[in-house]
Amino acid sequence: MCNTLLPLACTACLAFVLLAGLGCLDNLAAPDKPALPATLNWGASSDSSSDGEAVEATRLSVSNATLDDLRSRLKAFKFVEPVENSGFEYGFNGAFMKQLVSHWLNKYNWRVWEDRLNSFPNYFTRIEGLKVHFMHLKPSKKGVKKRVPLLILHGWPGSVFEFYKLIPLLTTPDTDGLAFEVVAPSIPGYGWSEAAKKRGFSAAACARVFDKLMVRLGYRQYYIQGGDWGAGIGHIITREFPERVLGFHTNMPMQPFRQPSVIVQMIAGSFLPDGILFSKKDGQKTFPYFEKLSDIIRESGYMHIQATRPDTIGHALSDSPVGLAAYILEKFSV
Ligand SMILES: *[C@@H]1O[C@H](CO)[C@@H](O)[C@H](O)[C@H]1NC(C)=O
Repeated sequence: MCNTLLPLACTACLAFVLLAGLGCLDNLAAPDKPALPATLNWGASSDSSSDGEAVEATRLSVSNATLDDLRSRLKAFKFVEPVENSGFEYGFNGAFMKQLVSHWLNKYNWRVWEDRLNSFPNYFTRIEGLKVHFMHLKPSKKGVKKRVPLLILHGWPGSVFEFYKLIPLLTTPDTDGLAFEVVAPSIPGYGWSEAAKKRGFSAAACARVFDKLMVRLGYRQYYIQGGDWGAGIGHIITREFPERVLGFHTNMPMQPFRQPSVIVQMIAGSFLPDGILFSKKDGQKTFPYFEKLSDIIRESGYMHIQATRPDTIGHALSDSPVGLAAYILEKFSV
């Protein structure tokens, strides 16, 4: 018993000392803040109009011509035969896509969902040269004692549409009379927000744009919720504009991997039993490390092409609704 416990205790002790030291190193190594880009106008260079402060109410609408074009493309769907006895392990399954396209053509009615989107107040405003779309909802029901501003941020592959069930829950007062004033913007390039025309539009640039949006709406301080890119953007707001942030909630917390302590923790954690450096639950999610890493690599091919050659994949996806559906829905398949 002693023979097995002693080396374990020593290793744990050593790991603790190492981690404490590396924690200090982390503080020296980590820059305080991510650099905000110097560009303050992401619109086309030929466009010299300035932002202004105007906030314009809008009704979201897709033209009949666009819907007709969609139908003709869905009718021209080319079946991709799946490998025998395969599910979704090689990507989106062709047999399932056949059913999906049939549903899309015959049962799905865009106008119903367009009305649903328009049951929320939608707005446009111009920030840093970009037309930014957002939903803005104030609780109107009686019984509201305290209103709290909340910026909610979507990610990829997503849009503000993800929040249509959540928003009414947030704007309805709880038993203490607390309700949220919700601002849900579309990330530039997503949904109805204009994409940047210049190079270098980063999560940090987007964080600055959304903070300007909140200030323009009169919120000097606000809460943030974010997942995926929304998590990254929200995190940067907390670091860049801490005086504005009342609180930050995320469904995708991240540990910065460049920190020496994290790297050592991961290596040590893979040798030690769960429950020492990591809780049992976290250990199960993290180890065996290379197995988990290969799962992540298998699931993130999209990220590599989007990060390196977005315009190449962009041609394929904007020209084919079925291709786009496969590309996005694959992420919801198992
Ligand atoms: C689409 O066509 C219908 C029927 O002609 C018409 O009532 C409707 O206003 C059109 N919608 C748009 C957005 O143009």
